[in-house]
Amino acid sequence: MNSIAQQLKTRFEKAFTSAFGESYADTDLMLAPAGNPKFGDFQCNAAMSLGKKLGKPPRAIASTIIENLDIADICETPEIAGPGFINLKLKPAYLEAQISEIAADTRLGIEPVKTPQRVAIDFSSPNIAKEMHVGHLRSTIIGDAIARTLEFQGHDVIRINHIGDWGTQFGMLIAYLREVHPQALTTADALDLGDLVAFYRQAKQRFDADATFKETARQEVVKLQAGAEDTRRAWKLLCDQSRREFQVIYDLLDIKLTERGESFYNPLLSAVIADLNKLGLLVESDGAKCIFVDGFTNKEGEPLPLIVQKSDGGYNYATTDLAAIRYRIQNDKAKRIVYVTDSGQANHFAQVFAVARKAGWIPEDVEIVHVPFGLVCGEDGKRLKTRSGDAVRLQDLLDEAIVRTRQDLENRLKAEERHETEEFIASVSRTVGLSAVKYADLSQNRASNYVFSYDKMLALQGNTAPYMLYAYVRVQGIRRKGEIDFDNLDASAKVILQSDAELVLAKHLLQFNEVINAVGGDLLPNRICQYLFELSQKFNQFFEQCPVLKAEEPLRTSRLMLCDLTARTLKLGLDLLGIQVLERM
Ligand code: ARG
Repeated sequence: MNSIAQQLKTRFEKAFTSAFGESYADTDLMLAPAGNPKFGDFQCNAAMSLGKKLGKPPRAIASTIIENLDIADICETPEIAGPGFINLKLKPAYLEAQISEIAADTRLGIEPVKTPQRVAIDFSSPNIAKEMHVGHLRSTIIGDAIARTLEFQGHDVIRINHIGDWGTQFGMLIAYLREVHPQALTTADALDLGDLVAFYRQAKQRFDADATFKETARQEVVKLQAGAEDTRRAWKLLCDQSRREFQVIYDLLDIKLTERGESFYNPLLSAVIADLNKLGLLVESDGAKCIFVDGFTNKEGEPLPLIVQKSDGGYNYATTDLAAIRYRIQNDKAKRIVYVTDSGQANHFAQVFAVARKAGWIPEDVEIVHVPFGLVCGEDGKRLKTRSGDAVRLQDLLDEAIVRTRQDLENRLKAEERHETEEFIASVSRTVGLSAVKYADLSQNRASNYVFSYDKMLALQGNTAPYMLYAYVRVQGIRRKGEIDFDNLDASAKVILQSDAELVLAKHLLQFNEVINAVGGDLLPNRICQYLFELSQKFNQFFEQCPVLKAEEPLRTSRLMLCDLTARTLKLGLDLLGIQVLERM
């Protein structure tokens, strides 16, 4: 089903053609939701620029448009305001029919896209032998929400975990463990990730201070790259240990990913260099192989090279990313490639994309985008840290959210003199706590930094997960109280939109389609949050102003339909954000 904006657009395009001729069919209609409900629901502001072009007064142009506009089934008679704005007010009968149509559809009237694409989304991507930190939380949550939205639109999404599982740091770590804790390299589960991180730190210190150790570490890298069996086995064990702990977090957050770490591309790296060489793009500088592309300079304004092979023959993060681009285009056949990382990597990606483009590896019909996000900050406005100044472990942060939710819940139950089972309390705390963390992150424009505050994200009021979940629970409360079977409401019943609150809610329900389309384009999941927040507010107003169970028929069934449609919209929207609804809370 086409969104209201699309339906209006079609009508206007026809009017433009019949009023001004074929060549005006794709004039920019400047059709937008009205800024102020006083002026109606939509506005067409094209008469002003058209007036200039045609040398006629805009108000006269606006009348000509209206005379040619066949729109009586959708809107009241259009009005011309000010210099030549055309104001449109949707007819309740039209809205009623539209609402009935989306209510009867499991996808709420949102059709899959006409041309589904294969999309590769590179997200989460933590590093082996390092803990996942809040930056990876953002990448994971934002990447998952984008993946869910595109999947819902009907795209074929590959969710890639580009884990940092390769590189010189492994030589260092293995060399160090051989000395101090050799059994970790031969036995599974000998270390947990915390130990591994500590060893990693010690190894790094040793590496920086001791030249002999540095050489031993380098030897290990060579052995690893050459596939020496014991070094490989050691490396694999280290990866498995980290992987196990990443999986705990993915399970907790309900995240599905396919691991294809940096090591996957190792066999493809020499061909990247060879091909760049054939293209004549490689420049040697101090023994390293580099590429220069226009527009990239360092702080001093000098041309900034992308180093693809170090003087010792080792490859870089960027080399792997070049190989990954080729693989995703050639083997995965991806038509859109999306990278979700912090904005600190914006230059890296811009430069890698520019090199790949210069090399001719990105065909015209492939879109490649970096989806950057800002920092998670503490209450002090600086990067979130623990008291001791370390990066916050993701696991601790999520556990804390669940514990705090539980405290709030227990207090509320006490105040309301409600008795609930331990099972209920545990499951509600978990769902609400995790949802709150996800929602707080997703509700911000991802490009900005945000302040991490348990108090704010757990508040029952405001643009928070609990507020949204509560609106859903409200509808389920009505269902239980009235013993309503929403799936089997009177099939002949119609939605009736009488009061303002009903009309406002209905108009909002009909905008979800547009929001999903927008997110599919600009990959900003906060649009969904904002939409759901406004939906919850409008629903609560409706609920306060319009009796539901106590209303007379046919209003009663009509209002039940609005309640159910709101709940289903909330459920779908939250699902696209990776958030589960609750029946009670
Ligand atoms: N492992 C990197 C990090 O922790 C993120 C990888 C992002 N993906 C990529 N293809 N470079 O910062």
